[in-house]
Amino acid sequence: MMVVKQKKQGKQWRSVCKGLVLGALLTSCMILLYCLSAPEVQFHLPEIPVPYSCAHHPSIGQSPAGSSSIHRGLRRDRRCTPKVDIMFMKTHKTASSTILNMLFRFGEKHHLKFAFPSSRNDFFYPSLFYRTQVKDYGPGMCFNIMCNHMRFNEAEVAKVLPADTTYITILRDPAELFESSFHYFGRLVPFTWKISGGDKMEEFLSQPELYYDPEGFNSFYLKNLLFFDFGQDNNLPLADPRVEEGIRAISRRFHLVMLVEHFEESLILLKDALCWDMDDLLFFKLNVRKGSTVSKMTPELRAKALQWNAIDWKLYQHFNNTFWKKVELYGRERMENDVAELRRRNSQMAAICIEGGHAVDAGSIHETSMQPWQPIGEKSIMGYNLKKNVDKAHQKLCRKMLTPELQYLTDLGVNLWITKLWGHVRDILDW
Ligand SMILES: *[C@@H]1O[C@H](CO)[C@@H](O)[C@H](O)[C@H]1NC(C)=O
Repeated sequence: MMVVKQKKQGKQWRSVCKGLVLGALLTSCMILLYCLSAPEVQFHLPEIPVPYSCAHHPSIGQSPAGSSSIHRGLRRDRRCTPKVDIMFMKTHKTASSTILNMLFRFGEKHHLKFAFPSSRNDFFYPSLFYRTQVKDYGPGMCFNIMCNHMRFNEAEVAKVLPADTTYITILRDPAELFESSFHYFGRLVPFTWKISGGDKMEEFLSQPELYYDPEGFNSFYLKNLLFFDFGQDNNLPLADPRVEEGIRAISRRFHLVMLVEHFEESLILLKDALCWDMDDLLFFKLNVRKGSTVSKMTPELRAKALQWNAIDWKLYQHFNNTFWKKVELYGRERMENDVAELRRRNSQMAAICIEGGHAVDAGSIHETSMQPWQPIGEKSIMGYNLKKNVDKAHQKLCRKMLTPELQYLTDLGVNLWITKLWGHVRDILDW
């Protein structure tokens, strides 16, 4: 009895220590980052407009005016020009790493220029996006794709990307998103440290007002995270007119808002919006959590989570409506056929590329270059082993499709020293 108690206390003491070290580290990191970025923010940059388009296609789509108008319907379907100027607003915990992999591949295929962050894999999140955060940025320069995590700032993004940019993003059911965010980021939010009980999330949702502190460090991870990511105030009361305004602003800016719950349908709409090929949509689910660590939410808990994240719920419902209208316009049957084809081709690829055909635990991944980034405190994110003896025709594609986000970013020339340093610190502390 005594031993068990001591052991338990030892464990608690250990986690308190970890918490303190983590807090101190995070604070110093933030201060350092602010020092590094602040002078740039005050810099007065000349306003040189970005060209209307940064596409560099030779002549596709520039046939004489007469013939093009006659065949417009046909061209839209088969011979449209792939859109290469793309802003993907990467929201948190929304399968967005999988989409990033597609964008990286598409960008490489068409020799496009990415607006990447420097030194880490996001644009100084949770600070608002500012164009000097872009690696090698210069006023008036041409960039095609921006897709790393940021806190969206419409005016600044528009100063980096050309006017013909297609804006896309993805949302997830807010109850599921909250559960995922709590699991993944909970430990980064100091006010959760004092929550007791076996299921911290359940305890939090039973009386969120008691635990939640809107001024608390990293508190945005646990309330209306989607709305926050779009640069809005996540602590507004639902009835505040700024909520409606925020949703309207997102609606005006984004050409396509996808839904995690209908991922394949979303991709088909994406293909339609960007005039891509089915090949561009091939994917393996990256950054997937082990089934055993995903909590099944009861209906009561789900209701509480939606009530707590009421702004995100409103946002989600709004774009659920527009999503199904788009599917209707696309054609229900056509959609079903296309989704079936995409699924067929994805499983074909899985059979070609993946050892055993499915994702495995981190401990069973052989190559370090295939190891995904893990949340603090566990190894719950799964990854893949590349099959040996993949035929020559598929080797490159297989490897790219299976490469986790951070490794791919490094391959594309982004120096991630802050992110890596953080990883080493965690390894040393055995987090
Ligand atoms: C989304 O919209 C569809 C079609 O209108 C509807 O059947 C479904 O219940 C909606 N889902 C949510 C979560 O609002």
